Amino acid sequence: MNQPRILQRIFLAAFAVFTIALLTLPLRQTAAEKTAEERGLFNLTHNSYDSPRLNRKLIEFAAKAWEPEWKAKIVAGDPDSVLKVAFERYGFSPATWDNKGGPLQFVVNDNGQWSQTCMLCHGGRVPISGESKIGMPNTELDMQTMFEDITKATGMKAPFTLTFGQSRGRTNAFIFSLELLRRRNEDLSPRKDPAPMGDYSDYDLDPPAWWYLKKKTAIYADGGVKGDFSRAIMQFTMGESDGAKIRSWEPDFKDILAYLKSIEAPKYPLPIDQKLAADGKQVFTKTCSGCHGSYGADGKYPNKIVPLEVVGTDSARLTKLTKEFRDYYKKSWFGRSGEQGYEYPTGYVAPPLDGVWASAPYFHNGSVPTLYGVLTAEARPKYFRRIGGAKEYDAKDIGLKVEALNAAAPKDAPGEARRRVVDTTITGLGNQGHPFGFKLNEKEKRQVIEFLKTL
Ligand code: HEC
Ligand code: HEC
Repeated sequence: MNQPRILQRIFLAAFAVFTIALLTLPLRQTAAEKTAEERGLFNLTHNSYDSPRLNRKLIEFAAKAWEPEWKAKIVAGDPDSVLKVAFERYGFSPATWDNKGGPLQFVVNDNGQWSQTCMLCHGGRVPISGESKIGMPNTELDMQTMFEDITKATGMKAPFTLTFGQSRGRTNAFIFSLELLRRRNEDLSPRKDPAPMGDYSDYDLDPPAWWYLKKKTAIYADGGVKGDFSRAIMQFTMGESDGAKIRSWEPDFKDILAYLKSIEAPKYPLPIDQKLAADGKQVFTKTCSGCHGSYGADGKYPNKIVPLEVVGTDSARLTKLTKEFRDYYKKSWFGRSGEQGYEYPTGYVAPPLDGVWASAPYFHNGSVPTLYGVLTAEARPKYFRRIGGAKEYDAKDIGLKVEALNAAAPKDAPGEARRRVVDTTITGLGNQGHPFGFKLNEKEKRQVIEFLKTL
């Protein structure tokens, strides 16, 4: 090889290295410059903090167990049809990022395996527009049906007897955390015999909207966890068996929490009668602000925990979590985060009401479908079934469009259909209490509702 050619090669190689360096440098820098919120969003939508247990094939295979009317929805010739119908049946929605064909509720890895994420319960479709949103409670979820379909279609034996939930759009999230925690030592290493947790029973909860979090100093319906919540929110990662690995994810979750606190409430998209809303603001300030705070530029949120005797809503969430569980939680790695840590609660948090139009159904158990029902005892149906999905909305009473029924679903109805009927007479789903709007007259109620639309 002659010398000029060698020089030319060296020059070309140096040029290539230089170009690559130029191209990657800014990329590296932006990665490092990412804010905590941006990293948190990335973690939520790309990382698996649970073992991947599902994939498209398994979901499609579960269709074997569907009732004939569900099988009839499958469109022959459309290769995606089974998956689309499965999304409808189980309450999954389109992802808001490129998730390799998976829904908002899972993260799909490069091998096409699906891991459930926080958005299983905390991601769903915003009413009216039907757009997917992270932090929007998944009011359409029916995990129990998916689980039953998979066990039936595959002939697998269910590994536990707990149900994921007894009504659509809700899960017994706390009983699951209890079951997960009792199988671990205080440092989260697995333990052989589950810790005793006393006599507890099953009940459903409605996940709270994440956009309330930026204002909260205590989380969960009972305000039990105060201070730094980043460990508390990791409780759903316990599908992973290695305790040290779970603990090592704490920095990821600090970023996730930063992201959760940046989420904004969706704006009410239909016209608002501003005069009516202004009158409603006055009624609200007199009747509701003491607990729910004030809104606007100089708004204040008091972070009040209201004693159960005063709020009077369903007591199960407060009373069915045993002292044994609360003691164990307090001693565990989760209970030792933040300065204030875990407290023994006596009531329920009065949540902020930003975007409350979109957070129906109402109260911690989702037992009341509309805002008018929150203000009016007689407008709370004892049994109800939602009509349609996210795009159907009750724009008069503000909330879920439902039909009131005379009775619960028959016991022998298929589970999927049974869980669509909310039976407020079962443990945990009671729709009583919160009498604070009952004494308002019809005009004042409509004023307050109009004001709530502006939040
Ligand atoms: C199976 C459904 C489910 C999954 C999965 C789930 N959550 Fe929740 N989450 C709930 C329910 C239900 C509540 C309400 C519990 C209560 O208040 O008693 C809740 C409460 C919360 C709260 C407190 C909100 C408040 O305002 O009080 C935060 C924060 C939270 N979850 C974050 C997460 C994160 C982060 C993940 C993923 C690691 C996650 N959740 C996974 C169902 C779920
Ligand atoms: C004494 C305190 C108190 C007063 C006064 C009060 N509330 Fe509440 N409110 C609460 C508590 C506590 C909860 C949570 C109850 C639960 O989830 O079981 C709640 C829940 C709600 C919810 C459900 C929020 C959701 O996302 O599920 C709405 C809506 C609401 N209140 C509206 C009002 C309005 C409107 C007024 C005035 C007419 C009012 N409240 C007065 C304490 C109060």
